[in-house]
Amino acid sequence: MSKQDVLLCESLEISLARAIEKCPHDKLFILTDEHTTALCMPSLKQLSILKNAAEIIIGAEDTHKTLDTLATVWQALSEKGASRHSLLINLGGGMVTDLGGFAAATFKRGIPYINIPTTLLAMVDASVGGKTGINFNGLKNEIGAFAPASSVLIETEFLRSLDLQNFFSGYAEMLKHGLISNTAHWAELLSFDTEQIDYSYLKKLVGQSVQIKEDIVEQDPFEQDIRKALNLGHTVGHAFESLALAEDRHVLHGYAVAWGIVCELYLSHIKVGFPQDKMRQTIQFIKDKYGTFAIDCKKYDRLYEYMQHDKKNTAGIINFTLLKDIGDVSLNETASKDEIFETFDFYRECMGV
Ligand code: GLY
Repeated sequence: MSKQDVLLCESLEISLARAIEKCPHDKLFILTDEHTTALCMPSLKQLSILKNAAEIIIGAEDTHKTLDTLATVWQALSEKGASRHSLLINLGGGMVTDLGGFAAATFKRGIPYINIPTTLLAMVDASVGGKTGINFNGLKNEIGAFAPASSVLIETEFLRSLDLQNFFSGYAEMLKHGLISNTAHWAELLSFDTEQIDYSYLKKLVGQSVQIKEDIVEQDPFEQDIRKALNLGHTVGHAFESLALAEDRHVLHGYAVAWGIVCELYLSHIKVGFPQDKMRQTIQFIKDKYGTFAIDCKKYDRLYEYMQHDKKNTAGIINFTLLKDIGDVSLNETASKDEIFETFDFYRECMGV
């Protein structure tokens, strides 16, 4: 997989001009959603480099990450005269960068694209690393391709208009990056003042977080090995997310990941010796900032079933990424059904559910 340029922008205008220059094209398209067209597009529209760009607007939120929406993007590209030498810019959160990236990867067998993530989650995770796709058949990201953006331009000024829930959703992935990398970064994240956000300090933390992800993706772009480290918290997290979806409970991805981290740190502790004090500190932070996702023991079988269908599994064996310590990752771990149910008991007890 070719390497993508990930830039923490000082000036979006200059970075975008360079990124566009890198991709000679006949026509330029910008994909936005209902939110980013209103909130972020006005500042970009003024840029002379984008004056001839055609905008394609799709519905916002994960519910629109569908084959139907993808088809409307293909159709718009086709009707507006896109060729295989056209360039697509995705301006939005993870839904736009995932779906737009997949539209670009498949239209006329692939056109180049640039990501401009506008949410914290998209900046530190979704837009970086070349995973693209849509939800299908009730399953998240079931259809997709590895197809890296030509450039990812991170403009943290967009974060000033982000609501707190979406801030914390992205912050959970940053916390994950801290846990899988080093104690200093993890400690910085736990002590960051989320009540009074210092945006220039946040920019520094975002830069560190993206670097952690980039380093891992560069070593293992197709997730054969070390990229699985990025799945910490996601095995249980995806099960919480699926349960929430089935029960019509609104849960943002990062919240499910945070609660998944609680469970997977406990599993890390009992199976590979993750230190109890660091587990407790991380859990306290998550409890304070994310609240809890209530489950009772009648839900255990259902959660277990969701975990058995996770696409990270091989031959139906549930795959976990665990930690021996901060920055000391243990890949391809498994756990018995009893251990997983014990983990749910622990989660309920320590989260006060
Ligand atoms: N979101 C995890 C990854 O990109 O591998």
